[in-house]
Amino acid sequence: MSSARNPENHQIPKSLEMYQRALELIPGGTQLISRRPTRFAHGISPIFASHGKGARIWDVDGNEYIDWVSGIGAILLGYADPVVDDAVKSQIDRGTNFSITHELELELAEELVATIPCAEMVRYTRSGGEACAVAVRIARGVTGRDKVLFCGYHGWHDWYIASNLTAEESLNEHLFSGIEPIGVPSGLKQTAIPFPYDDLNALGELLDANRGEVAAIIMEPIRSELPPEGYLAGVQKLAKEHDVVLIFDEVTTGFRLAVDGIQSVVGVEPDMSVFAKSISNGYAMGAVVGKRDVMSPSSQMFISSTYWGETVGLTAALTTIREVKKRNVPAIVQHTGTQLISQLTAIASEIGLPVVCKGVSIHPYLEFQVEDAETKTKLSTLYIQEMAKRGCHGYTSFYLNAAQGEAELSQTWDAARETFTILAAGLADNRLDDLLECIPKKEYFQRLVR
Ligand SMILES: Cc1ncc(COP(=O)(O)O)c(C=O)c1O
Repeated sequence: MSSARNPENHQIPKSLEMYQRALELIPGGTQLISRRPTRFAHGISPIFASHGKGARIWDVDGNEYIDWVSGIGAILLGYADPVVDDAVKSQIDRGTNFSITHELELELAEELVATIPCAEMVRYTRSGGEACAVAVRIARGVTGRDKVLFCGYHGWHDWYIASNLTAEESLNEHLFSGIEPIGVPSGLKQTAIPFPYDDLNALGELLDANRGEVAAIIMEPIRSELPPEGYLAGVQKLAKEHDVVLIFDEVTTGFRLAVDGIQSVVGVEPDMSVFAKSISNGYAMGAVVGKRDVMSPSSQMFISSTYWGETVGLTAALTTIREVKKRNVPAIVQHTGTQLISQLTAIASEIGLPVVCKGVSIHPYLEFQVEDAETKTKLSTLYIQEMAKRGCHGYTSFYLNAAQGEAELSQTWDAARETFTILAAGLADNRLDDLLECIPKKEYFQRLVR
């Protein structure tokens, strides 16, 4: 059992060797920036996975970890969930991609419309970024306008990264700093404009300054905290006043807060919502759902792909949504999150380390309460390093899934107690540099509420 393993024996030689080979063949070494080793404790955290089951993953060196990142949010029921996987396997035996529309396409549409408050019509994609791009295209199509106001992260596509053509720090608060809009057509300059979270005046001013030109407001309705009372209703009011399409990006939150997504929790129904990742427990799938008046005109727009109606993703999404309801997954993950928030804070206070665990229960995060930014980075990297050595893979924030249970929590409390003790001693003796065995983390995804 990994909880009993000796942290001093932790090694990842095969991962490191494979990463060198990958860098030769794959620009950036991986397909997802959040999976880059520098996002974790490079040299200590696992880089290449071998397999996963439930709450746990195994790396190519044979180390077992609780995965507190849940496939960067894509896993909601747990790895290799038997119900979803059995459904997928039997669908594979019946065929995956057809020359006519498969019946599952309609069945999933009916499930989504019955589940998500704003959903009257549905389109599919294979990923979250793609789903955002489809939603933005539809909004531009129905309004005949070009500009998009955004808040949060919405994928890699030109429409979004174009915001850094105008000012290179546009994405700093929404994604991370230093992103150059290389390869994005300069003609898109001024078409994607960021707005700050929880500032209705700023949003109103942007809408006034771009009156008659804004097609859509697209935003992550929550990330690490619940929205302040009345904020999202205020955004919706402004959108209506300016005849702008309001799009919620629910890719990461998914069905973690409620079985119908975020809308019933925050009491606001946008014109469109975008889902991906956890909608299908790790299988490639995305969905754009929305009101009929906005969605219907898109039948005239060229938005089309062979793989959007492929049956593995459709089956995985349909089964995942039904299992989320059956197992009451939001209650499970929120219980886990509440435990993390209270216990990690309590352990830190017992040890005297200036860190608290806070945030919304579906996505808690650790906040190191030290002034100096460099010290903060060192503490978080050292935390990731020492937790990895104790079989807990993660960032300083937690993506939850329903397979994480009492065994995972108990192992995490033990690991955190030892880790926090090391951090507290390192901080007191000014020895953080000596304790870091990895390259300090340089870049962060700077999310809107952190
Ligand atoms: C809120 C949000 N939107 C969009 C995306 C992009 O999704 P994908 O990586 O599936 O393209 C992500 C991914 O992290 C996300 O968190």
